[in-house]
Amino acid sequence: MWTLNTSPKVNVHVAQTGDCYDCHTNESLLKGMLRLGRKGIPVGCVNGGCGVCKVRIVEGAVRALGPVSRAHVSCDEEAQGYTLACRVAPTATVRLEVSARLSKPFSHPGNSSTTSNTKET
Ligand code: FES
Repeated sequence: MWTLNTSPKVNVHVAQTGDCYDCHTNESLLKGMLRLGRKGIPVGCVNGGCGVCKVRIVEGAVRALGPVSRAHVSCDEEAQGYTLACRVAPTATVRLEVSARLSKPFSHPGNSSTTSNTKET
């Protein structure tokens, strides 16, 4: 059954490319990122276990949706802002850097069908 997400949305900026997308405060950064329509955004386990969605929060605030694997985000990295996009939701406007495997789909400027997306899912 399809349900309308009525939670507030905040803006998320990808530092390396300037891509920008809206993300509900109750959905993961990865789910919102998928609406950018960029080819090759890796969707792995979606539960913090595989590490393909690693990002660094440069500015803004997020809240945990669940645990992240220490195999992919060490305590030191977490202190530097690294987390897994499938396991955090934004609570305020966020600026993030994609890293690891998530960097690849953002390495080609022409790989995006749009630079802004406000569609509901
Ligand atoms: S998709 Fe596997 S850790 Fe995010």
